[in-house]
Amino acid sequence: MSNYHIKHLEEYFQVYRKSVNHPEAFWEEIAEENFIWRKKWDAVLEWDFSKPEVKWFKGAKLNITENCIDRHLLTRGNKTAILFEPNDPNEPAEYITYKQLSIRVNKFANVLKSKGIQKGDRVCIYLPMIPELSIALLACARIGAIHSVVFAGFSATALATRINDADCKMVITSDGSFRGNKTIDLKGIVDEGLEKCKTVESVLVVKRIHTDIQMKSGRDYWIAPLLEKASATCEIEIMDAEDPLFILYTSGSTGQPKGMLHTTAGYMVYTAYTFKNVFNYKEDDVYWCSADIGWITGHSYIVYGPLANGATSVMFEGVPSYPDFGRFWQVIEKHKVNQFYTAPTAIRALAKEKLAFVEKHDLSSLKVLGSVGEPINEEAWHWYNDNIGKKKSPIVDTFFQTENGGIMLTPIPYVTPTKPTYATLPFIGIQPVLMDENGQELKGNKVEGRLCFQFPWPSIARTIWGNHQRYKETYFTAFKGKYFTGDGALRDEVGYYRITGRVDDVIIVSGHNLGTAPIEDAINEHPAVAESAIVGFPHDIKGNALYGYVILKEVGESRNHDNLRKEINQIITEHIGPIAKLDKIQFTDGLPKTRSGKIMRRILRKIATNESKNLGDISTLLNPEVVQSIIDHKL
Ligand code: WTA
Repeated sequence: MSNYHIKHLEEYFQVYRKSVNHPEAFWEEIAEENFIWRKKWDAVLEWDFSKPEVKWFKGAKLNITENCIDRHLLTRGNKTAILFEPNDPNEPAEYITYKQLSIRVNKFANVLKSKGIQKGDRVCIYLPMIPELSIALLACARIGAIHSVVFAGFSATALATRINDADCKMVITSDGSFRGNKTIDLKGIVDEGLEKCKTVESVLVVKRIHTDIQMKSGRDYWIAPLLEKASATCEIEIMDAEDPLFILYTSGSTGQPKGMLHTTAGYMVYTAYTFKNVFNYKEDDVYWCSADIGWITGHSYIVYGPLANGATSVMFEGVPSYPDFGRFWQVIEKHKVNQFYTAPTAIRALAKEKLAFVEKHDLSSLKVLGSVGEPINEEAWHWYNDNIGKKKSPIVDTFFQTENGGIMLTPIPYVTPTKPTYATLPFIGIQPVLMDENGQELKGNKVEGRLCFQFPWPSIARTIWGNHQRYKETYFTAFKGKYFTGDGALRDEVGYYRITGRVDDVIIVSGHNLGTAPIEDAINEHPAVAESAIVGFPHDIKGNALYGYVILKEVGESRNHDNLRKEINQIITEHIGPIAKLDKIQFTDGLPKTRSGKIMRRILRKIATNESKNLGDISTLLNPEVVQSIIDHKL
């Protein structure tokens, strides 16, 4: 397995050079030696960022579930594939071996078929973090159906938008979900969402919280009796390397969420290879990523990457604060977790609590700590390093995006010296460049600019479902011939990268990407609202929180402002979900606008972050006079 597991820095540089100088030869070797192919490729890579079009392992035939499940059956049949830790610590954990996973995925796949799902059909999965979620993904992949997982914290409206965008034929959900000491009525949300959907023919329902729910006859089916009857063997659908594997929605700065389309072979090769190296995974390790499978991190680093390596991957249903703030550390102790991968927002929230919650638990099994989803601030980095890793587990600060499929910038643990707040170096095969605002590349070290990638990697999203033009405009037009991330970054004196944050109107709140436009659209639906603008401002735990500036119509002016604030947040919850609620809502008479009528969010952002002293020249605004009034009434 040459180059598959990188063990020291010199080797990293040597393999990196090879991957950049001879990308096709490099990836061909990785692909050939580490996966099962039903037919080899005719060409390793064809690409053209001007179209944009990328094809990896063209002409190859495979099935990702044969690589994630079947091939482990002989050597790892009795090894735990999925280790399920329920919300309630008193409920026993479930250890699903590769053999059991195989049976459960095959049965599930047969149930999908029995309900008419075929290769290429879209299946929406709206489930909590229970084993059926991973199993449903794999069952779709086994028969060539395209899964579209929607995070089970999204509202009925957000769910319906995503179902309709992909014309999903089926929804897989549960009677409800547990979240700490609360339950959520998922099936009710699905029922409400489906009132706006025409393409869904059937709904499969997993029993999780055992409440009485409505089942619509001819549409809704409990899955348990169907699974019981189903055969435990289901032949794989032989997929083309570039056949779609899944759609996953991500927020843009404007418009509807974007359904990023990922395909089969490149995604498999890249997530598997990054998983092995970024987490230094060894055969008997227990690996835990605390993300939700509703996000790309969960797809790539709870399901596909770990299983492709025959790993044991923990799936956690609960929350970090239930039954108390020691829950994460208790789970690490209980399952002797070796690699733990979480988000800065969780680290910040737990760092605020008493250290006794940590000290109660034996964390000596830990070997690698990971961070993902947003910049990790220095304080949180040190807290994580000192108290969780005890200064002996390297922290991998991993940068990537839904669009990237897999980790792009990261240290390799025990190989790359880490530096707080730095994602350090590109992963093997990744070619980052920093660009200035005029489209010139910033060469050399000690520069700061916009982060782009100038060469394709195997797991790059191939398009936005149903809108290739938008894909091109969003990622490939700002800088000719390059993929633009939308993030700013700097390169320090030794060539390490640090992400400085979004340069567009996407705001990352508790690790969730939120576009300003859909939130403003929701607010504007309130009958008393004339216009609104959202910006982010720094928040101790969430990283960023949302600040809304709202202009009321005359009808709203006499109303109680606190009630209006509640109603506005209620509308946002209904349209998007509670994650998009505003922390502060300031009512104002006007919003600063350019002469062409565009809201100047830059000015509003400065006011919200208490930087109103250096607003720059505002005299060119259409209405400079509103600025002072907004400053005077800042919350
Ligand atoms: C941000 C999450 C700093 C970034 C996997 C990116 C990060 C967006 C990091 C993608 C990191 C992700 N350091 N910022 N290590 N990781 N980001 O699509 O702004 O949910 O563009 O994918 O998160 O978020 P997404």
